[in-house]
Amino acid sequence: MLILGIETSCDETAAAVISSDKKILSNIIWSQTEHAAYGGVVPEIAARAHMEYIEPVITKALLEAGITLSQIDAVAATAGPGLIGGVIVGVMTAKAIASVQKKPFIAVNHLEGHALTVRLTSDIGFPYLLLLASGGHCQFLVVEGVGKYKKLGGTLDDALGEVFDKTAKMLGLGYPGGPAVEQLAKKGDPSAYSFPLPLRGRDGCDLSFSGLKTAVRLKAEEIRDENGGILSEQAKADICASFQYTATASVINRAQWAIAEFKKLHPHGKYFVLAGGVAANEYIRSNLLEVLARNNLELVAPPLKLCTDNAAMIAWAGIERLELGLIDGLDFEPRARWPLSV
Ligand code: KG4
Ligand code: ZN
Repeated sequence: MLILGIETSCDETAAAVISSDKKILSNIIWSQTEHAAYGGVVPEIAARAHMEYIEPVITKALLEAGITLSQIDAVAATAGPGLIGGVIVGVMTAKAIASVQKKPFIAVNHLEGHALTVRLTSDIGFPYLLLLASGGHCQFLVVEGVGKYKKLGGTLDDALGEVFDKTAKMLGLGYPGGPAVEQLAKKGDPSAYSFPLPLRGRDGCDLSFSGLKTAVRLKAEEIRDENGGILSEQAKADICASFQYTATASVINRAQWAIAEFKKLHPHGKYFVLAGGVAANEYIRSNLLEVLARNNLELVAPPLKLCTDNAAMIAWAGIERLELGLIDGLDFEPRARWPLSV
């Protein structure tokens, strides 16, 4: 069985062809560069760019897979949550293809795409504990099956990737900020500045990063004021390292609560899955490994290219749903908000 997947919920226009025996025949990602000048994604510009790129991206995905549209067995598209203009472009395109080819249409929740990708690349069964950390999302979920998710906690304000992006913006490091902050942090001292640990002393799996973001901003301003408006490369590196240290400490602290909850629900659960763009961060990964080892949990993460937004994950979620007979009508309405679980 071959599935075409389409992803347009943020600033990547992506299409992929996947087979039900887990072969990625193509995985095309067009990362929109139009937003770089703004330090963040501009929804209206994103929607227009998706309209421009969607057709060539799908054509390329089919070409690389060596198939024509008539050979696909179904089409899956991200139907939310996300920037609604872009989601509409992807869903309308998928519905048009499904309708012309007379093939099933599957509306995929973008978060479910991230949550299930690991099963495309590793042979792991349910249940598992998932930390989904991206630019738009940050939550701990127990994944018990396709469509069966229990949210243990999530961010009360900013997502983790978002604070990496905002820290980068404050320091003039460009967008997306995660990789830039991680790189510069390697040259800095994590104990140079002491930022307050978010939600210190509070029980549970929720996270919060807006206080840390403000502390970083105030520190950068203070150093600039003391140095005639200049923030040296070393000061920037020290801020990055100290910020990353505190953000990671918070993730680890919250992960311990999540692990305890997961073990209560599934005492024999074996896997901790990391997904979303922040999974690329080696510093966070290595710190998590220590905690997981103490709890007999194995860290599993999809390869980096499948951690950040892509259409292979949407096609895969489509396959998982199709195999359970979960298809959608052509009247399915795109959703800007769509929680996986409450
Ligand atoms: O999953 P993703 O591609 O898009 C969303 O659905 O948001 O994640 C992108 C996010 C961005 O915020 C980016 O800064 C962050 O993931 N990210 C990182 C790293 N690489 C990407 N954050 C921290 N460290 C990294 N190495
Ligand atoms: Zn995402």
